Formats: sequence, structure tokens, C-alpha cells
Amino acid sequence: MRKTFDLILYGATGFVGQQAIAYLASRADSSTRWAIAGRSLAKMEAARDTEAKRHPSVQDIPIIVADAQDESALAELASSARVVLSCAGPYALYGSKLVAACVAKQTHYCDITGETPWIRQMIDAHHEQALGDGTRIVPGCGFDSVPSDLGTYLLMREMKNRFGEDCTTIKAAFTLGGGGLNGGTLASVMNMIESKQSKALNNPFLLNPAGTVPKDVAAHRDPLGAHHDADFKAWLGLFVMGPVNTRVVRRSLALRGQTASYQEYLRFGRSLAAGAVAASFGVGSKISMGMLAFSPVRKMAQRMIPQPGEGPSPASMARGFFKAELIGHSAQGHKLRAVIGDSLDAGNGATVKMMCESALAMAENESKLPKAAGVITPSVAFGDALEKRLLSAGMRVEVSE
Ligand SMILES: NC(=O)c1ccc[n+]([C@@H]2O[C@H](COP(=O)([O-])OP(=O)(O)OC[C@H]3O[C@@H](n4cnc5c(N)ncnc54)[C@H](OP(=O)(O)O)[C@@H]3O)[C@@H](O)[C@H]2O)c1
Repeated sequence: MRKTFDLILYGATGFVGQQAIAYLASRADSSTRWAIAGRSLAKMEAARDTEAKRHPSVQDIPIIVADAQDESALAELASSARVVLSCAGPYALYGSKLVAACVAKQTHYCDITGETPWIRQMIDAHHEQALGDGTRIVPGCGFDSVPSDLGTYLLMREMKNRFGEDCTTIKAAFTLGGGGLNGGTLASVMNMIESKQSKALNNPFLLNPAGTVPKDVAAHRDPLGAHHDADFKAWLGLFVMGPVNTRVVRRSLALRGQTASYQEYLRFGRSLAAGAVAASFGVGSKISMGMLAFSPVRKMAQRMIPQPGEGPSPASMARGFFKAELIGHSAQGHKLRAVIGDSLDAGNGATVKMMCESALAMAENESKLPKAAGVITPSVAFGDALEKRLLSAGMRVEVSE
């Protein structure tokens, strides 16, 4: 039976969700039937009216009201759509019933969560059924973890195409600027700390399918210190998103039956001073995270940080950019380099682009997607189709020797 909508944007009133209305208005095909959804009719009407001033066609976009805890409203929402894109987070608080409804109604789903313990719960609860039904449930379609996941996929693909070999090690170094953290992102981090999930967060293979965890787990632990890397010719140190992205990439590799090791870092400069900054940044980040485990410190921090619904200023986002550079080596000595980047800030402009292009890949290019289903990762779900869509949306996506 034909569903009413190709795509529903859920959580359309949030800081990211409102930007997604604008993005879909300019990038969705005119034949794509899309709607916005959330818990508050008044807020959604206001968001739609604001965007309609720039894109008049948005005025006709239907609105669906469904609270994240209202199972019957979510069931109706999921039945009416081929694809749901959710920006309602923290996902551990607002995501589980929506995913369950999408699985039950065989509706493809994607989001921008970086909450790996929650992704693990979704895998355990829904992977088998979604796999059997052919439903794609794809968390992590924003800055976490598309650049890491797509970059790794491209290196593995090109190493095979050019040399008939596999990469045995892949490492990524990130550079980013401008933008800043959204209140919604900080709420998600605080919720993970509050719900005492640090043990799960520290498991390097948290998202791997059973039977795919290597024996030498300790060799894959998150890097703490700084080191000078000969391939990148720069000092590399702790990247706070690494403990999220590496888990997603390792799930992708395992789902494809590949065994490369993967690690990622923040790139500092070339000088000795940069090395000192890299080392102190790592220690500082660890101390800050450790202190947030204490409730009084957390309560004080929560009063000082952006609140849900808030985010960086337009000026700060306009200065934003990111570049993920990945280097893969084969056992036979070949080396390839991939770059994924954008002149938009990582947490908003680029995230909105990556998540909307992921959702549109399912809504508009379903026949060109890999045959994949279950609770899966962006590269497993979208493969080459996502590369093509991001290129056509102006992102830098390249592989070279
Ligand atoms: N992957 C990435 O790189 C990346 C980047 C940015 C953000 N994120 C994640 O994306 C999520 C959203 O971020 P944000 O900055 O847009 O957050 P936000 O501004 O706080 O938006 C949260 C959204 O969730 C909705 N919501 C809250 N409670 C709900 C309920 N009971 N039922 C239905 N909807 C409900 C809110 O609706 P109301 O407006 O009605 O309150 C709002 O639309 C966060 O989890 C964040 O961590 C990821």
C-alpha cells in the first residue's frame, strides 16, 4: 500500500530540526512528499511560518503531532511514512518508542545520535526483526559518524578497486573550527553521564555483532596521550568524538566482514608547542569528563552551558568548517588517503546536510542503495549513494594515493 509521505522530519522544532526544514525545502525533489512532526503544534506552525518566508512552498508542508512517549500517535506516524528522520534528542529519552514504531511498521529510519549505549539497546531490541523485514534503521547520520564511516568505506573500496587488497589499518585526523556545541548535544552527554553509562562508552567494540570482537581488545582502546604521526606529519591527540565514531566504524567493518583496525584523533600542528598542546588537551578533557561524574559539578555546569533548543550564534556557525583526513595502509605496503570535509560547521550546517542527504537517499534513491537492513551504519545502509549525494550537495569527498 502506498504510504502518504516519503519522508517525515521528526523533532522539527529543535535547533537542528529547524535548520533541517530549510535544507529539505531547498534540496528535496519536488515530487518528494514530506511532512514535519513533533510534540507541539504551535511550535511547529511557528517553525514552518518562519521558513516559509524564505521558501514559500514550506507553507503547504503538513504537520503531524506526536509526543515521543505517545505510542499510538507514533504508530500512526510511522505507518504514514516510508522514511522517518529524527532530530529529537537525547535519543535515550525521546528516541526508543519512535524506533520501535518504525520497526513495527517497516518504515526506514535515520537520526543523528552519538549516544552509543542507546544504539546498542536499539541493536539488541530490533536488529533481527528489521533485518528480516528489510527495514533500514540507521543511527549516527550526522558529524558523528558519517565522515569517519564513509571515509573508511571509501578507503576499503578504493584499496580493493586499485590494488585488489584490503586496508589493514586506517587512522583518521580531524580539523575543525567555528560553530560550537548545541544545548541538545550537551543534554545528551549529560544524560549519558547521569545514567552511568561510562563503562559501556569505554568498550571499543560496543556496537559489534556477536562473534566479531577481536582477542586483542586492549590494542583498540581510545588513545589518551599525544603522538607525532609520520603519515599526517603532525601531532595528533585525543578527539572527543573518537569514542563514538570508532564504535560505528568497527560495526561497519564487521557487518561487511572486514577486519581493518580503526582509530581517530584530533590534529594539532607540526611544532613541538603543538605537541605540548595536544598532550595537555587530552589530559584536560579526561579531567573535565571525570569531574562531570560528580553530581554537584554537573549541576553547576548545567547552569552555565547552552540549554536544549539553544546553539551557537549565526556568526560562529558561519565561521565553521571541518576536515576529516583518513589514511589507510594495506599489508602489501600500499597507502591511500581520503578527505571528507565541508565549509559548514560540524555540529549544525554539515550535520544537517549529512543527515538530510542520508534520509533523502532512502526517500529518493532507494533502488540504488546496497541491499542492507537491520540496525546498521550509514556506510552499510547507503554506500556509494551517500558519497554521490554529498558530492552533489557541495561536500569535499575524495580519495587519492
Ligand atoms: N551527530 C551530530 O553531529 C549532532 C549534531 C547536533 C545535534 N546532535 C543531536 O541531535 C539531537 C538534537 O539536537 P538539537 O540541538 O536540535 O536539540 P534541541 O534543540 O534541544 O531539540 C530537541 C528536539 O526534541 C524535541 N522533543 C523534546 N521532548 C520531546 C517529546 N517528549 N516528544 C517529541 N519531541 C520532543 C524538541 O521539541 P520541543 O521543541 O517541542 O521542545 C525538539 O524538537 C541531540 O540529541 C543532539 O545530541 C547530533
